[in-house]
Amino acid sequence: MSHSRSQRSVFAVPGSSEKMIGKALDFQVDQLFLDLEDGVAPDAKAAARELINSAGQKKFTAPLVSIRVNALESAWIDADIDLLAAGVGRWIGSVILPKVRHVDDIKVFSDALTKVEKSVNREVGSITIDAQIESAQGLVNCEAIASANRVTSLNFGPADFMADLGATAEEVTSNEYALMKILVAARAAGIAAIDGPTLEVRDISKFEKSSRISAAMGFDGKWVLHPDQIDSCHAIFTPTQERFDEASCLLEAYEHFTSSSGGAKGAAIYKGAMIDEASRKMALSVYNRGAAAGLRASRHFIA
Ligand code: GLV
Ligand code: MG
Repeated sequence: MSHSRSQRSVFAVPGSSEKMIGKALDFQVDQLFLDLEDGVAPDAKAAARELINSAGQKKFTAPLVSIRVNALESAWIDADIDLLAAGVGRWIGSVILPKVRHVDDIKVFSDALTKVEKSVNREVGSITIDAQIESAQGLVNCEAIASANRVTSLNFGPADFMADLGATAEEVTSNEYALMKILVAARAAGIAAIDGPTLEVRDISKFEKSSRISAAMGFDGKWVLHPDQIDSCHAIFTPTQERFDEASCLLEAYEHFTSSSGGAKGAAIYKGAMIDEASRKMALSVYNRGAAAGLRASRHFIA
């Protein structure tokens, strides 16, 4: 059974903070990004680019290191692209593109990335795009955005999204419509769906509540703003050993019942419930997530 890499945690590091970049070197997270956008004040953007340029010589533990550039409509994007072409494009895995509104934004940025890849001698198409959906327009167009070349994940941006709607309190919107639409668009395109940040970094219960909702919906992971949120994030987005074992046993049971020695059945009764091809797919999704996070089956189905 194949399983891809985990994308449970996406850690945001302000590109203007040498101290945070230094701390982030050892963070055990699935993805980490150095921010040039809203986490960096306008007057600090130039210095942040220099810091990020020198960060390349350091070695991050995170298996995927990315840069969040400024929005395409901003005055800063050209300098951000120059930074990538000058060398940063050599060592990053992806770019987080904020405030994507239309599939044409992806096309424009993808062309810029092709130039970056050529200038740093990288295979064209090897830098992927994590698209942030954080406006009404972006949400309306997210299906086309999810299917565009290079896009490997949709990331929800709750703060900008609520600002764009004119929402005044998360409790009122609860963002479930946006989350569901993003999830469906991502799954239809076969890419990852990542929930955005919880801004109240001192309120871990708020982070956990929000993570539990998006994890139960089917999201792959969530943005993390503070080291205290990492463990909760991984615990919530990784199936428990018990759930993983249940999924693994169901997959083995289904394989047995569908085989000729097991009766070649399309549907069978397993532990008092009917299982069929759809049950297999649900179990496989849990299995793949756990396996990507390093879980191994601790028990097996016995016919
Ligand atoms: C993240 O970028 C957000 O706007 O919530
Ligand atoms: Mg945002």
